[in-house]
Amino acid sequence: METLAALPLEREDPFEPPAVLKELHGPLHPMTYADGRPGWLVTGYTEARAVLDDPRFSNTWQGAAPPIKELIPPEGLADLVIPPGFFIAMDDPEHSRYRRLLTGHFSMRKMRRLEPRIQEVIDGQLDEMARVGAPADLVQAFALPVPSLVICELLGVPYGERSRFQDTTAQAVNLDNSIEQRGAAGAELMGYLSELVGRKRAEPGEDLLSELVTGGELNHEELTGVATLLLTAGHETTANMLSLGAFLLLCRPEQADLVRTDPGVAESAVEELMRYLSITHVGPIRVARADVPLAGRTIKAGETVTLCLPVVNRDATRFPDPDRLDVTRQAGQQLGFSHGIHQCLGQQLARLEMRLAYPALLRRFPTLRLAVPAEEVPLRPRATIYGVSALPVTW
Ligand code: HEM
Repeated sequence: METLAALPLEREDPFEPPAVLKELHGPLHPMTYADGRPGWLVTGYTEARAVLDDPRFSNTWQGAAPPIKELIPPEGLADLVIPPGFFIAMDDPEHSRYRRLLTGHFSMRKMRRLEPRIQEVIDGQLDEMARVGAPADLVQAFALPVPSLVICELLGVPYGERSRFQDTTAQAVNLDNSIEQRGAAGAELMGYLSELVGRKRAEPGEDLLSELVTGGELNHEELTGVATLLLTAGHETTANMLSLGAFLLLCRPEQADLVRTDPGVAESAVEELMRYLSITHVGPIRVARADVPLAGRTIKAGETVTLCLPVVNRDATRFPDPDRLDVTRQAGQQLGFSHGIHQCLGQQLARLEMRLAYPALLRRFPTLRLAVPAEEVPLRPRATIYGVSALPVTW
């Protein structure tokens, strides 16, 4: 079995996983990590679910080998320090102590109640786009403001202060920045949220952060960590799905037509776009705590396993004709929101935003098209969340 040298990120086609990865045969591949350690890359659907379901795989990032050189910890620091409350990087039972405080806030029922307000936010951005007129950068005019406004309202973060979190988040996930620069951006963001938690304590409002503050179960540092995780995860990911998904639909007009004209298609289209685009393209990453048999091999205790979601979600044993985009496909089992105990907390929110946003955009501007040739749309392969950095459109 050939050993893969680290995880490639650059793509030959904006909507396809890197060719080297698509050409791999089999569900599990030995990989030499960026620091020279041996480990594994999972590309099979069944195997990916098995890893995500298995408590013998840890998500604390402690001892993890870096799948790309940009994630090698700085000299003298063996591991990244996980801030209190940043529960995405914790195992149970510590992880569930935080997660259970939040589950009810992101339930289907809560999301259904939010629907009219999210529609209003979407319509408001579309009105503004129409008012300013063509051409527009769809990232700045629509894809970034919609999820930012929604998560700000939910958490109680003043949207007027977005300059204090949008750019720092983008800097923190940009792999062209050094690890120190990314860390500094993360620290600045936490500084902002620490200050905001203080303000909520002094003057609680009717929002999620105020509720957590007055609930009294978490201390200031924990609240800051939770708030940082929710705010960053809540806007950066959905923004990239909205813009990359719109880019793809504009390149496949027959699929866009289905989304525009058939209200019944919106739900399946969201799952299919999540499957097809799989914007989390570095990980999830896990470390084995014990020897674990997988796909006829043994993952040894201490070894790192990286899941390759863009390829996992194209596994032909799970999704027939996987490289064909079909917005009517029932792709509900796609792993773009992960699976197991760390399965995306905000997935119902993200689904709702996308289900309302894609059809609304296409209906409001029926002649929407790219304002530059597709090859000139700037991609962001070198970010932990893949997408486009701008999407020039006209109508
Ligand atoms: C299309 C948009 C989104 C995508 C693709 C996405 C993707 C993911 C993935 C892949 C994970 C799991 C990582 C792992 O297994 O290690 C995750 C976890 C998480 N996501 Fe999302 N997400 C999205 C939107 C959101 C939104 C809107 C929120 C709102 C707050 C959110 C909050 C979180 C949180 C808090 C976790 C950690 C859950 C835990 O560790 O228990 N995400 N997301």
